[in-house]
Amino acid sequence: MVHYIRFLRTPQCELSKKTADVSAVVAVQTDLGDALLSQDVLLDANLVEANSSKDLLHSQPLQWQATSRALKFTLPCPGKYISRSVRLQVTTKGTQSTSKQLEVPAIIDVWSSEFRLFDKVRSEPVIERQLRLSNGTTLRLLEDTGESIARHIWDASLGFLMFFARALFLSPPQEMSTIAKLVRSSKVRRLRVLELGAGCGVVGIAFAQLIKCDMLLTDLEDAQEILSTNSRHASPMAGSTIQTEVLDWASSLEGSSNSIFDLVLVSDCIYNPDSSLHLVEILRQLVARAPDTAILVGFKRRHEADTIFFDRMRETNFEIVGHIDIPLPHTATDYDSDIPTTEFYTYRQHTALRPQG
Ligand SMILES: C[S@@+](CC[C@H](N)C(=O)[O-])C[C@H]1O[C@@H](n2cnc3c(N)ncnc32)[C@H](O)[C@@H]1O
Repeated sequence: MVHYIRFLRTPQCELSKKTADVSAVVAVQTDLGDALLSQDVLLDANLVEANSSKDLLHSQPLQWQATSRALKFTLPCPGKYISRSVRLQVTTKGTQSTSKQLEVPAIIDVWSSEFRLFDKVRSEPVIERQLRLSNGTTLRLLEDTGESIARHIWDASLGFLMFFARALFLSPPQEMSTIAKLVRSSKVRRLRVLELGAGCGVVGIAFAQLIKCDMLLTDLEDAQEILSTNSRHASPMAGSTIQTEVLDWASSLEGSSNSIFDLVLVSDCIYNPDSSLHLVEILRQLVARAPDTAILVGFKRRHEADTIFFDRMRETNFEIVGHIDIPLPHTATDYDSDIPTTEFYTYRQHTALRPQG
């Protein structure tokens, strides 16, 4: 499984005579939060200057134990830093070295929001993830610390980062040729891309940071605040644009922006049988507007119900034009004997229904 370091309690400062003591509680969990890392691992808690994450003010190793449910700690930060604006990063050495190689780590680290070293000041319940992309840029995304489905990142989205790296920088296999061709075509024409169920936007923002496109990120109302914050702070590549919009699959596309798209991205959205049927209907309406639209669906198989999406896609005259499984980075644990994988399916409208030539 991929594991994510989460703040169960975001950092809080207490001043003592000589130190500014920063306390927090973390856990190392899966994306669903349903399992904890059952292995010992050494974490590093790094307190850095808010405006310059390279300025390390204080660092302390922490031991996460196989049996841990949570890890509470306090960093005694030298008093000379009182009143500074800081952030707390909790990471591992492995995470940092994997990120330097522009690969997705097996343990995703966490950055607190900015807070001041004053007595009783606690950082906001929002954290940042930083992921290095294959072109050397950093994707920075805010996530909620709460239990929302939409407002944090999911394993399949990490698989998408690996998929994009292969499509862009390695020789992509035949199974990825439709997407690889589209990506190459972005050198002469900006792609029009839609993400459905974008959550906090990791997949679409990464795409716009890697490939020249006009990206429209969509999700339910609940996700709009984090989605638009993340897209405002994004660093799309020169020539790319990012916009956000509410799009509920349960409502019709009629009345929504009348755009057409070269590519639709769908990451980890097929787990609910009812909404899967709505999702397929939205995809049908999109290809009715633009029959050449390609659809890239990536997901981590979790439920029997995932098959409902595939059955309905077949019944709706979509055909699979590419399928590839990308293994996710992981830490092998006793509840995780199979290698976690993101399965990718590229769909197009059935050839017989597509305009030829
Ligand atoms: C498991 S999350 C995946 C988020 C993101 N794509 C990722 O991979 O990190 C599923 C997303 O689908 C969205 N979603 C669920 N039902 C929806 C609907 N009817 N219309 C639009 N979005 C929906 C949720 O709000 C959530 O953001």
